[in-house]
Amino acid sequence: MTGDNILKGQVLSFTASPFEVPAQDATRLDEALVLRDGRIGDVGAFDTLRAAYPQAEVVDYANRLILAGFVDAHVHYPQTAMIASWGKRLIDWLNLYTFPEEMKFGDIGYATDIAARYLDLTAANGTTTMCSFCTIHPESTDAFFAEAQRRGQRVVAGKTCMDRNAPEGLRDSAQSAYDQSRDLLQRWHGVGRLSYAITPRFSPTSTPEQLEALGALWAEHPDCLMQTHLSEQTDEIEWVQGLFPSARDYLDTYEAHGLLGERGLYGHAIHLEAREKDRLREVGGAVVHCPTSNTFIGSGLFDMAGLMAAGQRIGLATDTGGGSSFSMLRTMAAAYEVAQLRGTALHPAQLIWLATAGSAGALHMGDLIGNIAPGLEGDLVVLDLASTPAIAQRSARAGDIWQAVFPTIMMGDDRAVADVWIGGRRVG
Ligand code: GUN
Ligand code: ZN
Repeated sequence: MTGDNILKGQVLSFTASPFEVPAQDATRLDEALVLRDGRIGDVGAFDTLRAAYPQAEVVDYANRLILAGFVDAHVHYPQTAMIASWGKRLIDWLNLYTFPEEMKFGDIGYATDIAARYLDLTAANGTTTMCSFCTIHPESTDAFFAEAQRRGQRVVAGKTCMDRNAPEGLRDSAQSAYDQSRDLLQRWHGVGRLSYAITPRFSPTSTPEQLEALGALWAEHPDCLMQTHLSEQTDEIEWVQGLFPSARDYLDTYEAHGLLGERGLYGHAIHLEAREKDRLREVGGAVVHCPTSNTFIGSGLFDMAGLMAAGQRIGLATDTGGGSSFSMLRTMAAAYEVAQLRGTALHPAQLIWLATAGSAGALHMGDLIGNIAPGLEGDLVVLDLASTPAIAQRSARAGDIWQAVFPTIMMGDDRAVADVWIGGRRVG
């Protein structure tokens, strides 16, 4: 057990959603926080905490910004090595680049190497929790959980299930998807900081029988999350209509098979019908915005303002490697740009909220991670708001904290990440 730490800096936390109340009413700035036994023990004025915890070791971050670690609500860790593959839209991109790479993950050694590489890259970017698709190979899920466990990291992951429209070697069946998912779930779900997500890739690569089997598994394990893709590209939606002629819409292909629920995570959700939005809101399922992916693969412009106003649960994600970055700073910048193209300027507090508390809420982990408050787990990122000459000269002119942080959101990268703490331990 490590001793207590007091971290001194500008500690930014949320008391409400900045989509519901103005930023200044939704946030707090404190001078310091205490890390104790892997959790946040206290938050407040430095002198008060210093007096209350005289044995604690002080880490002085001066005027750096201390935030909850970033939470990435939708990623594919097996796509790490093929990120930034040129020139294709979704279906061709899957066939040309993604499936051949995912084929390699039956090899536990390869899967472990990529899992370690992915978790190193994301930690360097300040991401402390993510929800990842693996591949159809159970080994790929074992490798990811084992590597996260070694690092004491809170992650969600699941074996990706596909029993059609995928190459030989990347297909399971309705029965084997059920059996293997259940076996993995029983071995990993709730072990330490690990959680299992039942993971049908998307309707085009699952038969109705497979969707049904995974819906049954979810009904047997309702405390698990379920992650998939929804309405990412228009030609994908047409394909789904052809494959499921009796479905009312794309969401109905999940709903009809027991795969619509409050603990469901629906990645992309760009081209939604009115009925789909109504049903998602009624059940409280989360839609996950993947802005760098949606521009990189050419999918479309997510309707953040409309979906937020309608009361949807929304997370933010890189969608590595359809997304073009491992960085949640870059992802916030892309969310800002996409919203601008739809006529809305997202406030820096809203962007930071999406990347922390919003994504944690999408994962139903808001009582564990995604904010700084006593009792929450000790996952933190420390941002240098003057990490490059270009950012420094801009933030030097800032009149308030939001003007100071916005240049880092728009122009920052892993150089802005001064420090990271995972489970109360400093990541070296
Ligand atoms: N739809 C189905 N699979 C994928 C994937 O791996 N990435 C993205 N962006 N969309 C998908
Ligand atoms: Zn995805």
